[in-house]
Amino acid sequence: MVAFTINGRPADVAKPPATSLLWVIREHLNLTGTKFGCGAGLCGACTVHVDGKALFSCQTQLGEVAGKAITTIEGLSPNGQHALQKAWVAEQVPQCGYCQSGQIMKAAELLAANKAPSREAIVRHMDGHLCRCGTYLRIVRAIERAAKEA
Ligand code: FES
Ligand code: FES
Repeated sequence: MVAFTINGRPADVAKPPATSLLWVIREHLNLTGTKFGCGAGLCGACTVHVDGKALFSCQTQLGEVAGKAITTIEGLSPNGQHALQKAWVAEQVPQCGYCQSGQIMKAAELLAANKAPSREAIVRHMDGHLCRCGTYLRIVRAIERAAKEA
């Protein structure tokens, strides 16, 4: 049994410690906002926060999160009103949407540490988070808007 908190609630999962955290989140905890993209640490669609740090959940094992606090896109804000979520709507960022929860979780890590990131800092921070629909410019604009309005 591995115990941790997820979106502020306690969870106990009886799965082998080597089980992928992404699998646990989606299949056992039914939080399907976190997406399976590549499963190989190459896209960022599966990004969640573990003790405030953005991690690829497909590359994180269940045993590594014992006693830690996990936040998924469902827990980023109690009502979907995080500054990034509002900016994402205002800038109409998503196209298919598949990559977007991972993008937002990665961006949230940046804004938690730096309230006024430069464009260069945003681009550097988001590097490695792929969007097959090519929404990169809107992602950057939305992060800039969220930083101004937060
Ligand atoms: S699904 Fe985890 S990095 Fe692509
Ligand atoms: S919006 Fe389609 S992959 Fe990013």
